[in-house]
Amino acid sequence: MKIIKVKDYEELSKMAADFVRNLLEKKPDACLGLATGSTPLGMYQNLIEMYQKGEVSFKDVRTYNLDEYCGLEKTHPQSYFTYMHEMFFNHIDISENNINLPEGDTANHEEACNSYNELLYNDEIDLQILGIGGNGHIGFNEPGTAFTQETFVVKLAEKTRLDNQRFFNSLAEVPEFAITMGIKNILQAKEILLLASGKGKAEAIKKLVSGEVSVDFPASALKEHANVTVIIDEEAASLL
Ligand code: GLP
Repeated sequence: MKIIKVKDYEELSKMAADFVRNLLEKKPDACLGLATGSTPLGMYQNLIEMYQKGEVSFKDVRTYNLDEYCGLEKTHPQSYFTYMHEMFFNHIDISENNINLPEGDTANHEEACNSYNELLYNDEIDLQILGIGGNGHIGFNEPGTAFTQETFVVKLAEKTRLDNQRFFNSLAEVPEFAITMGIKNILQAKEILLLASGKGKAEAIKKLVSGEVSVDFPASALKEHANVTVIIDEEAASLL
């Protein structure tokens, strides 16, 4: 695991966007695994600006998102479908056909997991972008998730619902379940880039760097992957 420490969120976002741009220069039809949450927003913004300046194109790029809430309509303001379109896809030249997210708005979540898993089996993610939850979750793989887990329906940890409450009007509105790529799917990416910014992530980063590999801390699974880069800012690195 390669750790890169930068000054602040701005630098982190630029470096992450450069990472993606460098990949697309080498491989314009790359497959990207994408994350939501507040951390990658700056990276998306930088990529949009690069696109507007003609420095990068997503014309032939395919994307797979890590996760989606169960039970929210696609058009719900807090669905990850809406997030990805508003924050990124609507501003670049990606083809809608090349965008993939788990189907959270369905009566049959098992089937939605199976078909997403099938898609992932038949493709290969070149670069997976990850954030990290305060409890070490990646995607929505909460503590206790086996590293062999594939796409599944997860009951969100209370900590995760509380962390994400800020995006909703109340805790009651935060969905209790989500569909997420499993840790096994994540580890199948050729390369992984994890981003962490701010004091709130310092404890998780300390555990990631110096803790042992354990299902109690899902991000520790990344130590079993050969090509992981972690970009952290000074605050996220403050306990190292
Ligand atoms: C959510 C997402 C994760 C994300 C995490 C951290 O729960 N499912 O993919 O990494 O939150 O979010 P943030 O970047 O807002 O701290």
